[in-house]
Amino acid sequence: MNVLIAGASRGIGLGLVTALLAQGHHVVAVARNPAGSDGLQALAGKHGDALTVIACDLNEPDAASVLRAGFGDITFDRMVFNAGVKTPLHQSVAAATMDEAGLLFMTNAIAPVRLAQQLCGSVVDGGVIGFMSSQMASLTLNRSGGMPLYGASKAALNSLMLSWASTLDVLPFSLLALHPGWVKTDMGGPDATETVEQSAAGLIRTLDAHAGKKVCTFVDYQGEPMPW
Ligand SMILES: NC(=O)c1ccc[n+]([C@@H]2O[C@H](COP(=O)([O-])OP(=O)(O)OC[C@H]3O[C@@H](n4cnc5c(N)ncnc54)[C@H](OP(=O)(O)O)[C@@H]3O)[C@@H](O)[C@H]2O)c1
Repeated sequence: MNVLIAGASRGIGLGLVTALLAQGHHVVAVARNPAGSDGLQALAGKHGDALTVIACDLNEPDAASVLRAGFGDITFDRMVFNAGVKTPLHQSVAAATMDEAGLLFMTNAIAPVRLAQQLCGSVVDGGVIGFMSSQMASLTLNRSGGMPLYGASKAALNSLMLSWASTLDVLPFSLLALHPGWVKTDMGGPDATETVEQSAAGLIRTLDAHAGKKVCTFVDYQGEPMPW
């Protein structure tokens, strides 16, 4: 299987790359500074041709061209748009600047959906495109009170995914907004309840479970439905 993981330098993205390589798949890992990722460097040394690494800042307007030039004519069974930020630290609607809001919404909502739209021609029929969302995207659960800007950016991601799906007469692939759990990473912090390995294993099972289904849905890393 060919899998693209966008945002793979550390955390959940690196965990997905590690687990997929261990399962014997070919992984295209995208990071803005691969040389600075000890994890990716170690995997490259261990797995050789099974890992293709592409340097790309996913927010750049030419990111899709950079990725296409990097992976060539491969077709993908899975694409996962994982990169995200939890900025600004203050999370204050009152204090947010244009730059802060721009970076947050570009990284978490616009860039992933834009790239998926530009690259989905390289996804096999019945494949799966996953976006790393969050339980904080759920308007129904309303759990982002402490992180309103971050929650709004993930709700925007879900909204853009749904809008895209609504424009397609027939879905040629599944579109998943994924809640990865609360995961021990730089973003999730040390008190989080799930390890990167647990989250990555569950996410991969959940992606696999939606192959061939051609649905658009919001699920957690254990495959449980999440309310919009
Ligand atoms: N951890 C949790 O509990 C949790 C819960 C819900 C949702 N999530 C979501 O899950 C995803 C992964 O989270 P994480 O905990 O693994 O976060 P993390 O440890 O902070 O890692 C974030 C990743 O995104 C990459 N990234 C950010 N902006 C990028 C850009 N413009 N271009 C390329 N890569 C970029 C980072 O690359 P650099 O190394 O270059 O910065 C890094 O690889 C995020 O979307 C996050 O919002 C996480």
